[in-house]
Formats: sequence, C-alpha cells, structure tokens
Amino acid sequence: MAEKLFIFDTTLRDGEQVPGCQLNTIEKIEVARALEALGVDIIEAGFPVSSPGDFNSVVEISKAVTWPVICALTRAVEKDIDAAVEALAYAKRGRIHTGIGTSPYHIKHKFNSTQEEIIERAVCAVKYAKRYVEDIEFYCEDAGRTDNVYLAKVVEAVIDSGATVVNIPDTTGYCLPLEYGEKIKFLMENVRNVHKAILSTHCHNDLGMATANTMAGVLNGARQVEVTINGIGERAGNTSMEEVVMILKSHKEIGIDTNINTQKIYPVSRMISSLMNMPVQPNKAIVGRNAFAHSSGIHQDGVLKNRESYEIIDPKDVGIDESIIVLTARSGRAALKHRLNILGVELVQEKLDAVYEAFLKLADSKKDINDDDILMLVGKDRSAMHRIKLEYLQVTAGIGLKPVASVCLNISGEKFEAAASGNGPVDAAIRAVKQIIHRQMTIQEFLIQAINKGSDDVGKVHMQVEHEGINYYGFSANTDIVAASVEAYVDAINKFVK
Ligand code: KIV
Ligand code: ZN
Repeated sequence: MAEKLFIFDTTLRDGEQVPGCQLNTIEKIEVARALEALGVDIIEAGFPVSSPGDFNSVVEISKAVTWPVICALTRAVEKDIDAAVEALAYAKRGRIHTGIGTSPYHIKHKFNSTQEEIIERAVCAVKYAKRYVEDIEFYCEDAGRTDNVYLAKVVEAVIDSGATVVNIPDTTGYCLPLEYGEKIKFLMENVRNVHKAILSTHCHNDLGMATANTMAGVLNGARQVEVTINGIGERAGNTSMEEVVMILKSHKEIGIDTNINTQKIYPVSRMISSLMNMPVQPNKAIVGRNAFAHSSGIHQDGVLKNRESYEIIDPKDVGIDESIIVLTARSGRAALKHRLNILGVELVQEKLDAVYEAFLKLADSKKDINDDDILMLVGKDRSAMHRIKLEYLQVTAGIGLKPVASVCLNISGEKFEAAASGNGPVDAAIRAVKQIIHRQMTIQEFLIQAINKGSDDVGKVHMQVEHEGINYYGFSANTDIVAASVEAYVDAINKFVK
C-alpha cells in the first residue's frame, strides 16, 4: 500500500502575492471550492493580519469548504496569531502556520538577533498558537540557507512546543536538489522527536529547481509538499502541484500517492490562469498548451502507431479531453454551459446569458472557439461592472498615414469623447483616453500575447499602470489588439478611479 503525501496548496497565499494576481473574496471562494474538488488536503487561504481583505477571505473560505484543512499564515507575533485564530473561527479544521527566519541573513540583518533568541521567539509563538488551535505548522523561513545543525535545534524545539508540521522552505530557491534532499534526511535522522511531526517542503523556483528540490525532500522523508497550481508564486514561483502529483503517479515505484483527482488538473489550471490573468507558458510541463502536442513528423508517426512511444502521460489523466466539442457560432447555451462546467466554472443564468452573448459575437469573428477563449469571455464579464467603460473606439492607421484615434468613455452613465494622434494606433488611443481621464498615470508594462494561433486569434493584453506611486493591473482580450490594449488600460484605471 502506497504511503500518503499531503498536498498543501498555497495558490491563494504565496501564489496570490504575485503583483497583478490578486483575487477578490468571491473569486477566492471559487478557487477554494475547485481545490477542494481537486482533492487537496490543506488550503492556505491567506495572511489574515496583512489586510481586512485577506482576513475576510480566510473567514469566507472557512465557511465555504468542508474537507480540506484551512490554514492561515502568521509571523511569530501574537497579534498575527490572534488575527489568524479569529479568521479561522468557521473552519471545520483550522491550522495556524507561524514561523520566523532562521538563516544568518534573516537572524542578523532582518531581526538583528541571535540564534538563541530566534529559538525562544519560535517556541513562544508555537506555544501561544497552541492555546487556541491544535494543528500548528511552523516555518523556518530561509531554511534552504540555514545551517543544518542549527535548523535541527529549531525543529526539535518547535515540535517539543506542539508543532504538528514543520515547514522547511527554500525561500530563495537557492538549494540544489541533492543539498535540499540531504537537509531533509539530516532532520529525519537528527531531530529526536521528528516522528511526532510531519516535515513539509516549500520550494521556490528561482533557479528552476523547485520541483526537483521538492521531490528530493519527499524521497528523503518529507510527507507534505507546499505547492501552487501552475507554479505561480513570488518571483519565479513555487513548486507546481501538477508536476509533483504527476511525477508520483508516473513513478509508482516510489510508493507514495496523493489524494488528487488528476483529471481535474487541467480545468483547475485553466481556471487559475484565467482568474489571475496569468498566462501558462505553452511549454509548461503537464498543463502547457504544447505539453501533449507532437509537431515533428517522426513524433507524430510514433504517437499514431503507439501513444506510449512519445507520451508518458495519457492527456485524459490530467483532464485534457482530445475529443473536445469545438464550439462555433451554431453552438447553443447548453453546449457552452457544459464546456464551462468541465472547466470548473459554474455561472448563474444571468451571467451565462451575458457570456453567451459575448461568445456569439466572438464566434462571428473567430471560426473555432476553444477553452482559453471561453475562459477569457468569463473574465471579461467580471469587469462588466466597471464604472468607466469603453463605449467605442475608432482608429485610422496604416503605412503613410498618421495614426489617429477617437474614443468615447462612458463614466457612470455619462458619455465623454476625445480624439488624438500618436506614434501608433495604441499610442493615439491612449492619448485620447488621457484627455478624458485627467490623472497622472504612466504605463509601466504592456504585454500582448496571442491565445492560440491564426490571424483570427484573440490577443490578450496585460498592462501595468502607475498612479501616485502604486501599480495597478489591467487586463483584456479581443480579436482587435488595439481595442484590447485600450480596454486593458481602462481596466487598470477602474482600479483607482472609484
Ligand atoms: O517562502 C517562504 O519562506 C514562505 C514562508 C512564509 C512559508 O512563503
Ligand atoms: Zn514561499
């Protein structure tokens, strides 16, 4: 019988920390429910003391899900723990995840402290949290760069104080797989009371080794992995859940299994990508668009003769249905609803009607509508409540012509028009919008990406706009990339013009 590995999902905490990936509480509940259906064991729902929004999300997620443990992050500080205890009041099973930096970088430069004092603070935090919650996880931040002998002392002390899980984060993504594996092995062999707790991995991907390090940890005794969907997270991201789960499923000889219903991996991946406006790189393992695409003639021939010649995973095992019904302008609401449900999106009738209208318009300009297009339409519908809407946009541009744009914005029901010229059609349109919205704002980042291929494709635009020292993120998608650019700009403006 295979041993069980606990899947701790931190998409809603470490993942959501990524600039531009922030979700509102309703969206977080949607994600938490999808994670529950996927079969994760623990959902890290937020950092309650950090903001009222995070606090509220932990409360609402605790109410919304039943099976997974709901975890709240804190520093080793009483007021953080108090906030976490309060936020977890509705959790059927709650966990506090407290901790402190243990590497010389953290002890000396962040805390101006000593190794002994850090152990004291760690012990106090665990004992304090234990007064309210039974399930306590302790993280030794920057454990990747912490000396193993000292790390073992910290781990032993927090387990003696009541920690039930001890997290060994490679916070900076620095470790080599061999080094990280040996760290876990050292703790397994040298911490007197290690059998009273579970060791957890938490690896970042700065050097592209997060999954390898996580697996090295598991092979050496860790029985919980902290992961995110699509590997999103701070900087280069966290370990991808789908990669670890499919490694264990493909390598049965390891003898470790998870509770994940792997057929839900792809729909959840698409849902997260769409809600967080975070594209999945096409060659991403397991969930990338090309993960199962065989383009070379030799590979295609091999796969047609026997799939296993070039595929180690059956795409159906991760929820990629090759016999997907292609949606076209003739597809009805029921087909759209069915496809959305497969993708993990449930819409009330009114929302479904709005998305269906948008779907018909898109189907008129694009022959085949695929999953990414549909999720893009659902995302667009979410911004329909904006105060400022782009009513129309007209652009004249071409070789030998000076680009000119006219725009009309609807601001709380009132219409405003302006026209401008620029060094290109997008520049002209943005200048026209600026004539209506008299705010100091600068575009910091502007990314246009095609969803699929073909000249009729939808272009996705991500824009970062700076206003009064804060960056706001805008997103849109349209078959007209100039329109998508202006919509993304207006989307960002809506975040600060209330
Ligand atoms: O990377 C890290 O060290 C963390 C901790 C807060 C768990 O995210
Ligand atoms: Zn982290």
